[in-house]
Amino acid sequence: MNAAEPMSHMAQAPSSTRRWPAAGYTSAPYWVFTDPEIYAREQARIFRGPAWHYLGLEAEVPDPGCYKTTYIGESSVLLTRANDGSLHAMLNRCAHRGNMICREPFGTANKLYCVYHAWSYTLEGDLSRVAFQRGLHGEGGLPRDFDPAHHGLRKLRVDTLCGLVFATFSDEVEPLEQWLGEIAHGIRRVLRRPLKVLGYDTQRIHANWKAYHENPRDSYHANILHTFYGTFGLSRQSQESAMVLDGSGRHVYFYTKAGTEKNGDDYKETASALRSHNDSLRLEDPGILKWHDEFGDGISVQILTAYPTFVLHQIANNLATRQLLPKGPGQADLVWTYFGFADDDEEMTRVRLAQTNLAGSAGMISVEDAAVCEMMRRAMGDGQEGESFIEMGGRDLESGGTTKLSERAIRNFWHNYRVDMEL
Ligand code: FES
Ligand SMILES: [Fe+2]
Repeated sequence: MNAAEPMSHMAQAPSSTRRWPAAGYTSAPYWVFTDPEIYAREQARIFRGPAWHYLGLEAEVPDPGCYKTTYIGESSVLLTRANDGSLHAMLNRCAHRGNMICREPFGTANKLYCVYHAWSYTLEGDLSRVAFQRGLHGEGGLPRDFDPAHHGLRKLRVDTLCGLVFATFSDEVEPLEQWLGEIAHGIRRVLRRPLKVLGYDTQRIHANWKAYHENPRDSYHANILHTFYGTFGLSRQSQESAMVLDGSGRHVYFYTKAGTEKNGDDYKETASALRSHNDSLRLEDPGILKWHDEFGDGISVQILTAYPTFVLHQIANNLATRQLLPKGPGQADLVWTYFGFADDDEEMTRVRLAQTNLAGSAGMISVEDAAVCEMMRRAMGDGQEGESFIEMGGRDLESGGTTKLSERAIRNFWHNYRVDMEL
């Protein structure tokens, strides 16, 4: 190496020369969490690529004329329900000069109206009116051959499953249920009846979106990091539990059955050293731990993750979706939408809301997840050197089987990510 070479060149190879570690999907280089060029490529290849992205619940746009604004990656997106009851997804970006059409998170409208120059669109996203299209007194206006049919909002494909609404930029990706594969069972298990939204919580996480999205795929950490799970027994490694991946390895869910402990000596030995098992902690009001086995299968916790950024959780009787919205390489917004069923009685709604204290930005279980992601970001620094080690449960996409003491789902995440990103 030339001794006169500036330090910055030595430390920071341009991303075009980046190489994934030879270990492959058992290792993720830290530059993948920090590099702006990688982030831009993710927007094109994943968020605008062949994947389905969660937009919200059908229950959030219940009637004709209802709309919701949200994002897919960095793209501002509009979800509407048209007069015939059908759902539509489109870019929330005027076809004229790119202004945002709807600014509120939710609303109702009989047309989509851009304030900049008053172009309006139908709820399906077709251009219906252009202000001064023919000019005035024979002057100005659009060329005579202007065809409104070619100037609607950019439409996305939309598909639903059990009240969840997803959209994609891609014409090629398979229908939603096929894309989700085996994890559709985990969705059907929870979303059995019409839904009712109970509330929202949005948090800004100062970490790369993938750091958060390794987390709900990481069944290894769940009962180790989260004191509440281990100490109060909602989820422990010693309980009956399993991991279910779809055939592609993109999507996964885990479940645990509280009260099914098999405390062998090997469990006792490890658990005694875990900070998350703290026998001296007591709850002043243990009411939050009382849950009803409403689905009749004994599963106390099910965390389901769909590639790239969707989570559906059942923690006791608390039900929620989590939608992660990347906001640059170093931060992301996590939107928690809590819901119950439309036919829940008052008591059931009270239980679900009380157990909301377990989840969300300040949740007694979930608070540690964002904290760890932010600590990882600080520890990774600029990400120019170093990589993770992901061999819990083995070195293959299949190894680890269905045990939760495994990083199999994380290996599968990075495998699919690398295919999509051509890294
Ligand atoms: S930008 Fe929307 S009407 Fe001009
Ligand atoms: Fe967690």
